[in-house]
Amino acid sequence: LDGALRDRRQRPWRDLRISLTDRCNFRCGYCMPRSRFGPGHRFLPQAQLLNFEEIAQVARQALALGVRTLRLTGGEPLLRRDLPRLISQLAALRTLDGTPPDLALTTNGSLLAAQAPALRDAGLNRLTVSLDALDDAVFQRMNEVGFPVAEVLRGLEAAQRAGFTSIKVNMVVRRGVNDGEALPLAAHFRDNYGGGMVLRFIEFMDAGTHNGWQLGEVLPSADLRARIAERWPLQPLQPTRGGETAERWRYADGGGEVGFISSVSHAFCGDCTRARLTAQGQLYTCLFAAHGHDLRPLLRAADGSEALLRERLAEIWGGRSDAYSEQRERLRLLHPERADMHVLGG
Ligand code: GTP
Ligand code: 5AD
Ligand code: SF4
Ligand code: SF4
Repeated sequence: LDGALRDRRQRPWRDLRISLTDRCNFRCGYCMPRSRFGPGHRFLPQAQLLNFEEIAQVARQALALGVRTLRLTGGEPLLRRDLPRLISQLAALRTLDGTPPDLALTTNGSLLAAQAPALRDAGLNRLTVSLDALDDAVFQRMNEVGFPVAEVLRGLEAAQRAGFTSIKVNMVVRRGVNDGEALPLAAHFRDNYGGGMVLRFIEFMDAGTHNGWQLGEVLPSADLRARIAERWPLQPLQPTRGGETAERWRYADGGGEVGFISSVSHAFCGDCTRARLTAQGQLYTCLFAAHGHDLRPLLRAADGSEALLRERLAEIWGGRSDAYSEQRERLRLLHPERADMHVLGG
């Protein structure tokens, strides 16, 4: 019965994105621009973060309601101390089918070279690395902390060596800023790593309220796809499962696969199966919501029973009707408040 949980638009709950920290060592302009998140910015104090047992409680009850994928995010999740221990704890949980959850992580890759083997050993299944340029100058301008691209590439290699297969690479595309890097990145991932990595182009989104988003900086996926197809013809692929963020394409010459995440030009709210847990214990039912639901009182309930937590989660999902990207123009004006991406984990 629990597995039949649906929101108001009949969408099942399949993914829980778990932000482990609001901290990040990058200052990507589309997320935490340095001009706004300078040295004086106060991150959450450690004492306010959910501990691993509390995170596992939420994950366990989400899985009991039909969730299958747990994706760890941040800020930068590799900054969370003892991360492999949490991964082992989550890997020991079970979905409704009795199978282990699909455990994924999205990282900026800066600390991956050192951590990849431990993440793999702990039971992490899937890895996604953000990479917005291949050119070092453009990359350093994008991350706003002068972080070198070579170190992220070293992280990708280490991840592959550690046994991660089908690694995904996310490029956020801003027209006039880094769109010139799309083809070089495509070439790089066609030619290297034995074709084992899938590059995905993400339309710059109006997440949060600090990134100065303008429609003019969005390069619609269809335009970018045409640019790429001019060089390497593309063929559409079927979705691997319902509710995917990316539209998948393959190079006709066998050069592998690329994806396009088009939240602006082609909203995918219709089958959105995702909820987000912040590091502080707020559950958000949309990436563009202004507020979440505070789960902390239920987590710290003295009776130790998780039944109330599960009921609350079912109630929150059941009451959800979000479809921000489908209604962007109207909602931007109506509800200008939106939580920050580094708090929600993307
Ligand atoms: P897979 O399960 O591997 O396909 O991962 P994913 O694409 O769901 O997660 P990832 O962390 O790689 O996110 C890719 C991009 O999609 C990021 O820019 C996210 O912010 C964005 N994204 C993820 N989920 C949603 C969503 O529900 N709505 C919108 N608008 N964007 C999303
Ligand atoms: N628009 C699109 N993608 C974004 N991300 C962060 N901020 C934005 C934005 N404003 C991406 C990161 C990462 C993923 C979790 O979200 O680059 O790949
Ligand atoms: Fe950090 Fe990711 Fe935000 Fe960039 S997009 S500032 S790497 S959390
Ligand atoms: Fe889901 Fe909100 Fe993204 Fe739409 S905008 S796909 S409802 S998270």
